[in-house]
Amino acid sequence: MNTPKILVIGALGQIGSELVEELCLQKGTENVIASDIRPEKEVNIAAQYLQLNVMDKERLYAVIQEYQIGTIYNLAAILSAKGEQDPMFAWKLNMEGLFNTLEAAKDISHLTKIFWPSSIAVFGPNSPRDNTPQYCVMDPNTVYGISKLAGERWCEYYFEKYGVDVRSLRYPGLIGYKAAPGGGTTDYAVDIYHYAVQNKPYQCFLREDTALPMMYMEDAIRATILLMDSPPEQIKNRSSYNLSGMSFSPLGITQSIQKQIPGFQCTYVPDFRQKIADSWPMSIDDTEARNDWGWKPEFDLEKMTGIMLENIAIQYPEVTTG
Ligand code: NAD
Ligand code: SER
Repeated sequence: MNTPKILVIGALGQIGSELVEELCLQKGTENVIASDIRPEKEVNIAAQYLQLNVMDKERLYAVIQEYQIGTIYNLAAILSAKGEQDPMFAWKLNMEGLFNTLEAAKDISHLTKIFWPSSIAVFGPNSPRDNTPQYCVMDPNTVYGISKLAGERWCEYYFEKYGVDVRSLRYPGLIGYKAAPGGGTTDYAVDIYHYAVQNKPYQCFLREDTALPMMYMEDAIRATILLMDSPPEQIKNRSSYNLSGMSFSPLGITQSIQKQIPGFQCTYVPDFRQKIADSWPMSIDDTEARNDWGWKPEFDLEKMTGIMLENIAIQYPEVTTG
């Protein structure tokens, strides 16, 4: 029998591009199919690539049948800051994309596992902000957060009612050097490294003391595959797990960069994203993930800064060679 294939939807984004790379390494390139809305001729990616709009249910079903897909990672979404520009479209994409993958898992017997990411954006101004627990008041006030909280409830519903093996993580802000972020409130924590490496000052769109939960991408990819490879009996939460890596403010990341680039300067000019950040947790309690499937982060701010600066410098050879 052929090995069931893995389909990554939204594979060209910040997470998808790194997840595809790691899945190819661990599961074999021949078992991974990357997809996104961009046409095939524009894309350069190690895995087999298909153009696929997650909102096109008919084509999604056809791809699942044709390629004997056994697992889907559905990463297609509009993130927090971009979502506020067109709330109705963000709601449509985030919910319809999730429903199409959940329905497919209900309808197609060889599609046995779904990963769908949630976010710290499910919390809101009345959630406890320090060491935010798995269960508490949740009153998100962005369309993104509302879609993620609704999505979590639907994941649990499809598990309870239809036995769909759906698994989810509430990712913190994710930071990596390989791909650009796609329109979130935490994007500053990637952009700042690019400015620092080019010896340019950075203007941050959040206040200097705005602490948020964050995670280095390698930890996020490891958590995702660990969750998906864990035996079903270990997955006791079928809405979405809190997940914690580190927590820092714009001032904290600036100081961490200044340890390696002493002349680096950052100014703080908050815009509409400040209000979003102020409604999110400052740190997260991920005891359930640690207890249920053995989660433990490996990267702190200093370790991440070293890796980010080293690898981003390679992307600007004109700066480093003078
Ligand atoms: P991203 O914006 O970088 O990537 C999303 C990808 O989805 C893009 O490549 C885009 O082209 C694709 N896409 C958009 N519309 C599509 C459609 N209709 N059909 C197919 N593909 C489509 O986002 P990301 O940062 O990689 O996030 C991936 C997932 O993780 C999202 O669900 C996001 O909410 C979640 N998440 C991300 C973060 C983070 O910090 N990056 C944090 C929490 C949760
Ligand atoms: N990093 C994401 C954002 O800022 C959180 O889900 O939107």
